[in-house]
Amino acid sequence: MSSVPLLVVDSGYFLDDGRNSHGDSLADMKVNNEWMLKAYKWLMVDAINLSSYDLRFLSKMIRGPSYKTEANWSLINRMVSANIQSRSPNMIAPQPFLIREVPGSQNGAGPLRIAFVGLTRQGPAPPAGFKIVDPMEAARRAVPEARRRADLVILLAHLSTAEAVSLARQVPGIDVIIAGNGEIFTAPVEVGQTLIVFTPFETRKVGELRFYRDAQGRFTIKDRYIVLDDQTPENMEAARIVTAAVEAEKAARAHSRKLLEEWAALTRSFKKPERKGPDETPSPAYVSSNACYQCHATHYLKWADTAHARASGPVILKPAEFEQSCLDCHASGPRKEKMLTAGDGPPLQNVQCEECHGPAGDHLANPGKGYGPIADVTVSCLRCHTPSASPNFDFETYWEKIKH
Ligand code: HEC
Ligand code: HEC
Ligand code: HEC
Ligand code: HEC
Repeated sequence: MSSVPLLVVDSGYFLDDGRNSHGDSLADMKVNNEWMLKAYKWLMVDAINLSSYDLRFLSKMIRGPSYKTEANWSLINRMVSANIQSRSPNMIAPQPFLIREVPGSQNGAGPLRIAFVGLTRQGPAPPAGFKIVDPMEAARRAVPEARRRADLVILLAHLSTAEAVSLARQVPGIDVIIAGNGEIFTAPVEVGQTLIVFTPFETRKVGELRFYRDAQGRFTIKDRYIVLDDQTPENMEAARIVTAAVEAEKAARAHSRKLLEEWAALTRSFKKPERKGPDETPSPAYVSSNACYQCHATHYLKWADTAHARASGPVILKPAEFEQSCLDCHASGPRKEKMLTAGDGPPLQNVQCEECHGPAGDHLANPGKGYGPIADVTVSCLRCHTPSASPNFDFETYWEKIKH
């Protein structure tokens, strides 16, 4: 038996539930995820199985050079996945497995090497830069390699019960599969040489596996499940983390809601700008599309017939879905936090002319002067038509619809 308990989590708990239309994370979800990372660091989890659901959030952490920060690296070091692979050199692929060594506590027994191999289901589709290959195929490659280097091979599988069973049947050399799939808690099953245990639903139980090594080096495994009821003593430090996380998440949601409401109120009481920013520097004056009609009627009428002229519509129609960050692309003019709270300048609804051509206060005062050239048209569209917001974006066909 190992004298050192190892803590592993079958992940899948980072939020990315596609509450908004583009499947991006909302402000409160981001806060929730940040706290999850803090908790993983604090708990010193030994191995974390990366699931397809975690990837959208975590891919930001394992992209580019930022992963090299020590805090991130200590977490990435503990993440495993044999079937999440990177497509691009800017991404680091998670390691297929990791090995933890624990001292054997039986007389004369040497240290025990335990390999944790990670696997996830293939959906939902991974973010750009990653691919998720067939779990069976990945296991066939990773398990023998882990087997060579460890005494015990444990598979952390974010897979269905049926998939876990067929893995046990088809891939030799796995001692235990810990299957976490959010399905109803099922009693452990033995398939050939492999024990399959299931992670309990809604963290109501802690699962424990004990390994006993006999004189011949063979293992017997005992599993038990401890119900976390009100008899279980509260860990005060953990309780503090949970409370702080819940508070932070609530605050993020309330803050975003407040900014959105302020924005909506300001757009209703449209005032002429004072042309002073919060730091007393003159801010560019926005005049809104209505002001262009007088001299550019044809352009105006064309614009008024496009989706851009209605881009704040869903904000007002489906307020529950929206938060302040949506305004980055679904509104115009000064709408950033600083501007909004200072009430500076008219925050504008929809994607107005000036969102592409720039503030037109000076142009109106002096129409003869050169105004409105766009340095790189395609790049200007891509600021909002990002791959997640506008997966079908193609410049030629999109420009055709809005050209004026
Ligand atoms: C008082 C009349 C007037 C108003 C109002 C006006 N413009 Fe103009 N605009 C002009 C004139 C005149 C020109 C042509 C200037 C030139 O040829 O140098 C022009 C040129 C432009 C150009 C450059 C076109 C080119 O061929 O290079 C753009 C873009 C433009 N305006 C956009 C706007 C937008 C957007 C608004 C509203 C925010 C607006 N204008 C409001 C009179 C106006
Ligand atoms: C990075 C820019 C960007 C952000 C941020 C953004 N959107 Fe969008 N959104 C777009 C673009 C671009 C489209 C049009 C996509 C297309 O048709 O190709 C769009 C389309 C939509 C549509 C479909 C419009 C319709 O009439 O069917 C909805 C709904 C929507 N967004 C909601 C949201 C919500 C809610 C948020 C915030 C949680 C948000 N968007 C944040 C750029 C953005
Ligand atoms: C989504 C971005 C976008 C919006 C919104 C937009 N424009 Fe444009 N506009 C462009 C682009 C791109 C061009 C082409 C410029 C180029 O090729 O350099 C253009 C060209 C123009 C031109 C010059 C056309 C010519 O004949 O050369 C005028 C004038 C103009 N826009 C006025 C307006 C007015 C007025 C509105 C609002 C009623 C408006 N635009 C809204 C992107 C936009
Ligand atoms: C400030 C952000 C922003 C910019 C810049 C922008 N768009 Fe959009 N665009 C949107 C949003 C938001 C929508 C969705 C509006 C809605 O339906 O509610 C949209 C929708 C569209 C649509 C309608 C899509 C459909 O399926 O009917 C077209 C076409 C389009 N944009 C073309 C362009 C082109 C071309 C450019 C660059 C010249 C551009 N956009 C620049 C935000 C932007």
